[in-house]
Amino acid sequence: MPVANSAASAVSGSLPKWQLALAVGAPVALGLGYMYYKNSSQGKSKGPGKANGTATDKQISIDGDSPGKNSRADKLETPAARAQRYKAQGNQAFIARKYDDAILYYNKAIEACPLENKDELAKIYQNRAAAYDALEKFTAVKEDCTKALELNPKYTKALIRRAKVLEKNNELELALEDVTAACILERFTNQSALLTADRVLKQLGKQHAQELMTTKKPVMPSKHFIKTYFSSFRNDPVLSVEAIDSMDKYAGPGLTNAVEAFKGEKYDDIISICTAEIEKSDIDVPDKMKLLLLRGTFYLLLGQHEKAMDDLDAVISDKNESASREVRVNALIKRATMHMQLENPSQCFKDFERALATDPDCGDIYHHRGQVNLLLENVNEAREDSEKALKLNPQFGIAYAQKCYTDYRHAAMSRMPSLVESAMENFEKSFELFPDCCECYTLYAQMLCDAQSYERADEYFAKAIDKDPKNATIYVHRGLLQLQWCGNVVKAMEYINKALELDDKCEFGYETLGTIEVQRGNLKEAIKLFDKALSLARTGLELTHIFSLQDAAKAQLKIGERLGADFMFGISGMS
Ligand SMILES: *[C@@H]1O[C@H](CO)[C@@H](O)[C@H](O)[C@H]1NC(C)=O
Ligand SMILES: *[C@@H]1O[C@H](CO)[C@@H](O)[C@H](O)[C@H]1NC(C)=O
Ligand SMILES: *[C@@H]1O[C@H](CO)[C@@H](O)[C@H](O)[C@H]1NC(C)=O
Repeated sequence: MPVANSAASAVSGSLPKWQLALAVGAPVALGLGYMYYKNSSQGKSKGPGKANGTATDKQISIDGDSPGKNSRADKLETPAARAQRYKAQGNQAFIARKYDDAILYYNKAIEACPLENKDELAKIYQNRAAAYDALEKFTAVKEDCTKALELNPKYTKALIRRAKVLEKNNELELALEDVTAACILERFTNQSALLTADRVLKQLGKQHAQELMTTKKPVMPSKHFIKTYFSSFRNDPVLSVEAIDSMDKYAGPGLTNAVEAFKGEKYDDIISICTAEIEKSDIDVPDKMKLLLLRGTFYLLLGQHEKAMDDLDAVISDKNESASREVRVNALIKRATMHMQLENPSQCFKDFERALATDPDCGDIYHHRGQVNLLLENVNEAREDSEKALKLNPQFGIAYAQKCYTDYRHAAMSRMPSLVESAMENFEKSFELFPDCCECYTLYAQMLCDAQSYERADEYFAKAIDKDPKNATIYVHRGLLQLQWCGNVVKAMEYINKALELDDKCEFGYETLGTIEVQRGNLKEAIKLFDKALSLARTGLELTHIFSLQDAAKAQLKIGERLGADFMFGISGMS
């Protein structure tokens, strides 16, 4: 994904475009989640599905026979016929909104109905549940739905009704099971079921994420990730060559230790080194600010947002302004992207504004804001930002690639073939201008993917791998391309496994592999892979996203047990 390389990318976990939209607001990814998305978004574009209210909902929510049938009492009436007659009377009362009367008729119908007429009896229970629903007697609704489902486990209406009650009671896992079963039974065409599933998945994901956030152990990202993260800043005021050169002259020993550890890739030591120095009473104040920035950055990389916030705040809000302008601007950019990770875009943009007020000529600000804008699909703004970023840092290959990519996205959006062509041509120049910039190749490949030139996209992912052979993310993207291009699961898994070999902390790899296992019906394996991804995720948003995938897989597994494996077979796949 284009926006990888910044803290903002940690939000999306470097999702490909068609998954990205899902991470920011819309329903979740591939697999079952993908089916939800595909169908509910198609449905939404057709028109207002929800608008036609609950009145009709209630009317169609009972199961009856054509009116008139069996309505005459018959002396020789069989118990089955009598049950039907009572049910029909119940339905009439229901339609007249006389719900208490309806319940009385349904009671009689249930009493009369022979036990072996399971489907019919299930219908009556379901209808009585509908009447209880109208009266908001939810415990009774749940009980009647359960009886209906004991009689007919594949009864969609009862499943959806019970799911909604379970949702109200915050019994979200059970709600998800029911509604997932309904979705599968209706082959993902029932809007009401899809919307409920989507809502429950999001709520459940959020709830699980919040629970895990309080107990989760922070994990340091891979060395490669950390290096790329820092390389996304053209001017790092603590670690850049210039900063280190001048430090030899001015800095106290405190900062030197931290920078040495950084240069030696001893990332796990950085926080404790910084803390030890910061707490010394005789520390040079500008050095202290740099150490706070560095420590805050590592807290951010660890996903320890509160601690990161404290350090960055201390740098930004220092009344004495003892931090240099570069240090303050860098802290503001990082705090901005952290606000984004915490799902607070308005604070994020405020910090970018503040950074620009502090130093309007800092390309890094535009570069990172451009990534956030791209993430939010604000293509026009992203394009303006990346243009300015490049103007201010014309030698920055990543900025060049990002500008080309946003130009392309903009051209594609406005459906102007000539613009698309010129964007592509400009992009090709990047290979001469910045022959060693891996971003140029991956973004070019991403663009080719968007344009469905899969074969060429693959070629350029291969070139990107040549440039940066340790980058696991590119392998995952190449694997995803295999799926999009020709559904080659075996090849896709090969690439992704290679990614995990290179970087066993590649959360995106585990998540993607898990999704593929869902497709293949290996739900238990998928759940394990999602667990692994969860242990590596750094933000609430990432956790919510992965939990939604995992919860969907768990629900599918349960339903398989409930309704039989053959019921699931062949339905869960995307093909
Ligand atoms: C969806 O399912 C509910 C409950 O079974 C049903 O009342 C409704 O008519 C269905 N909607 C569609 C569009 O099939
Ligand atoms: C790997 O490559 C992608 C695409 O160029 C880039 O965005 C990312 O930052 C790189 N590094 C890591 C650790 O993913
Ligand atoms: C700001 O400067 C004053 C006077 O030099 C000093 O006493 C105070 O501790 C400084 N504050 C910070 C946060 O460094």
